[in-house]
Amino acid sequence: MRRTHSCGALRASDIDQTITLCGWVHHRRDHGGVIFIDLRDREGVTQVTFDGAVCSAEVHAQADRLRNEWVIEITGTVASRGDNVNPNLATGEIEVFATSLTILNQAQTPPFELDEHAKVGEEVRLRHRYLDLRRPVIQSRFLLRHRATKIIRDYFDQRGFLDIETPILCKSTPEGARDYLVPSRVHPGAFYALPQSPQLFKQLLMVGGFDRYMQIARCFRDEDLRAERQPEFTQIDIEMSFVDMDDVMAEAEGMIRSLWQEVLGVDIGPVQRMPYAEAMLRYGSDKPDLRYGMEIHELSDWAPTSGFVVFQRGVEDGGICRGFNAKGAAEALSRRQLDFLDKEFVRDYGAKGLAWIKVGNGEWQGPAARNISPEARAELAQRLDVSDGDVLFFSAGPKRVVEATLGAVRVHLGTEMLGLAQPGDWRFLWVHSAPMFEWDDEARRFVSVHHPFTSPYADNLEILTSDPGACLSQSYDLVLNGVELGGGSIRIHRPEVQEQVFRALGIGETEAEEKFGFLLDALRYGAPPHGGLAFGLDRIIMQMAGTDSIRDVIAFPKTQKASDAMSEAPGPVSDAQLKELHLLSTARND
Ligand code: AMO
Ligand code: AMP
Repeated sequence: MRRTHSCGALRASDIDQTITLCGWVHHRRDHGGVIFIDLRDREGVTQVTFDGAVCSAEVHAQADRLRNEWVIEITGTVASRGDNVNPNLATGEIEVFATSLTILNQAQTPPFELDEHAKVGEEVRLRHRYLDLRRPVIQSRFLLRHRATKIIRDYFDQRGFLDIETPILCKSTPEGARDYLVPSRVHPGAFYALPQSPQLFKQLLMVGGFDRYMQIARCFRDEDLRAERQPEFTQIDIEMSFVDMDDVMAEAEGMIRSLWQEVLGVDIGPVQRMPYAEAMLRYGSDKPDLRYGMEIHELSDWAPTSGFVVFQRGVEDGGICRGFNAKGAAEALSRRQLDFLDKEFVRDYGAKGLAWIKVGNGEWQGPAARNISPEARAELAQRLDVSDGDVLFFSAGPKRVVEATLGAVRVHLGTEMLGLAQPGDWRFLWVHSAPMFEWDDEARRFVSVHHPFTSPYADNLEILTSDPGACLSQSYDLVLNGVELGGGSIRIHRPEVQEQVFRALGIGETEAEEKFGFLLDALRYGAPPHGGLAFGLDRIIMQMAGTDSIRDVIAFPKTQKASDAMSEAPGPVSDAQLKELHLLSTARND
């Protein structure tokens, strides 16, 4: 070993020892001929001192050449810092007086400072990710990710889950997103798909008798990217046989509980449960953020008597009217902010506007206020618990638009405008029993809310064909502070039910056999009742690390445009490669 210690190891008890350290030059200061180097490695930083009175003139001259990010090895003696102890550094009690120095490698001046506080654009950080990864704050996130992953594996191992790998080259299965395709050289014109999740394989593992499966699995989805979405990401994927919803939720919740306990020292307490329909009504979202109130109320019965034509018409046209009270927010919300919500923000959600009322000194102000009759006001005041200093928000129109609009306004107020979400406030929630299907206006057919292998409740089987839209599924999503951490369901294990669901989705018998013949076959050979769930590992680590992008917890993430800024993937390939794959590109790569 070259080193005797890491750069984070030395303490007062090591004083007078002769030691050797290796690492990167983090900072260099020259104080009248005494050169101070902050030497850094994964474990920390140690101050190394080159004092002409201690080291040879040759070593001192070498030290004078050192620049940031050079890689060096030093040998020297540990000494007390006396009165100059640095309480912010684990090694702050000591410094090392170097007597020898080897320059292992030089470095060009980095394109950005590797300082904690340096503000650097993400593009340049990702282009030189290997430098970015050296920053202590980033390294700490990967330390956390490593620890978490180990705890997760141990947790499931102790509970009899077998870690089994599933293929990356697959047949395309519908998980809702677009597939990444891989052309086959051997089968001209045929393609593999990269898995959107191991969904069907893990079900087949249950048919295969493995009983309990887990995998930390890479998934690939070609979809529009956001802060919490990457084209390739990692799932903690589990599946269990002979279970009901409670069993799967208990195992999954137990994992999250031990993760928060062991890594963060936090007891997450009992996790609340809420049916999907209630979440949509009270929070306008299937992933409610419970860190703040502002619960939404049904006002469709009040709207016709409100005296306000916008609300009346919204309900008359077959829609609904709902609203909520941002309690005590009147002072914090300026007219400009309210106008922004009303005239800009809600347009993204398909709403024509957002009526609001500001209550102050017993007076109701805002575009909707003057139209509302005194009786309607009195009733509203009671139903929304209105007092001085409140701001009320309303949306009227088609149900989906009203839900999405109020849901988004609520979150924007809570997290951005009113800043009600505090770090370290962990609000977990199970949202269960989503509908089996939702109507897709564009495709003019029902699509799965989860995926087509999700089981309806047994007592909903009769309406599966007659009223698919009302059929509820045995599904559950775990939500944390408005982010969906994971989701799963009890699966269909009887082939005739699976066929019925395909039919409800408009998938004909021939198509079903062609696409899912192997699944239907497997179900015909004695499939056990089974269910499971998948967590987004990146999202879990993102939340634990307190960052707001999963790119921060993936070593080599893709940019918003799904490319690798460093290697510049995806890139062009040669004509010969294309030919071998029986492909002809219609795009020009110039
Ligand atoms: P689902 O599609 O809900 O379920 O995915 C499970 C979890 O994976 C995470 N996730 C993502 N994370 C980062 N980037 C993405 N693009 C991305 N997409 C999803 C989310 C999500 O909750 N096979 C089913 C699970 C099951 O039924 O067992 C599935 O994949 O945190
Ligand atoms: P008025 O100026 O009297 O026409 O009031 C219209 C107010 O109602 C404006 O603030 C609009 O943004 C708002 N509004 C318009 N359509 C809706 C809607 N569907 N739901 C809630 N508020 C709306």
